[in-house]
Amino acid sequence: MSHIIRIEGSSTAVDAEPGDTVLDALLMAGVGFSYSCQAGNCGTCRCELVSGDILELEYSEHALSAEDRARGVVLACRAQVWGDVTVRRLDDEEFVVHPSRILDCRVTAVEKATHDIWRVRLDIRTGGPYAFSAGQYASVEFPFARGKARDYSMANAPFEPGIEFHVREMSGGAVSSGLGEKLAVGDAVRVSGPFGSAHLREKHFGPVIAVAGGSGLAPIRAILVALDQLLDERPVHVYVGARTEADVYCEDEIRGLARLHPDWHVHWVLSHGEPDPGRARRTGLVTDAIAQDFTTFEGFKAYVAGPPAMVGAASELLQARGLPLRDLHADAFYPADRKASAPSEEVSIP
Ligand code: FES
Repeated sequence: MSHIIRIEGSSTAVDAEPGDTVLDALLMAGVGFSYSCQAGNCGTCRCELVSGDILELEYSEHALSAEDRARGVVLACRAQVWGDVTVRRLDDEEFVVHPSRILDCRVTAVEKATHDIWRVRLDIRTGGPYAFSAGQYASVEFPFARGKARDYSMANAPFEPGIEFHVREMSGGAVSSGLGEKLAVGDAVRVSGPFGSAHLREKHFGPVIAVAGGSGLAPIRAILVALDQLLDERPVHVYVGARTEADVYCEDEIRGLARLHPDWHVHWVLSHGEPDPGRARRTGLVTDAIAQDFTTFEGFKAYVAGPPAMVGAASELLQARGLPLRDLHADAFYPADRKASAPSEEVSIP
């Protein structure tokens, strides 16, 4: 018995035999659909599964991230049809696929941002140009830890020169522990990427909420710097969670950006300890601060990055208050030994 594949928002309906992939059936019927490798490696055929019974064949984590899969995105070339199926094409910005590069870089700065976060800046020597979208991440191999690549988000916007990463130093971490003593200006660093889908959607003109915890501020900084350069103004609400005053960094820079825009609002929220007098701070959990300020997130885009517990709590809150899953772009920074297809910290922030 054959099944029917429909594309939501169009009159397209094609027959498929059980076990056909969505892509094969659409192409056989002459329906135009973006694809390239047809083998689950490139991600070009990503689409949203609206309903239906599919079996997913094996695919590369670089073609479809765990975050995208969690919000219902599938690869048409890897989705076998075992019942009637409806898919939705992703909008243009969901199709962003930058060429994957292996870059030979040199360290230009290693600066301590807090007691346990380093800002590492690199120049690209060979392998560029490096195109990426603000909010994406790369795989990074430092010279003192060959064979132990770690994923870190680019903290710079694509148009800023070089590459910047924020590395949280963890005692006992095989790579990050003692980074300041192990890494020096001039050292060679290998960078591969870009990866990830929690990047800025520039064509969304509605309000934005950006939520960061710990070194999750790296991709959020990149997104804010990129938003600052867009010609159209939109409301931007930034919430940064930190444990104590000693964990606050990048604040002057981000508040400086916000001062350039009438409808940008920045909140630093401390979960422990007393705020410095004279500093505009809130206290408690960052998710509680957000919950106090908003009753609905309809029409928003949300970018969330940081420790898994914070990302999970923020994602739950945003969805409970009306944010569709497709408008939630989240990167949870898992420990390196439990890494999914997302940036890592060597252990999570408590
Ligand atoms: Fe490349 Fe489907 S066409 S992943």
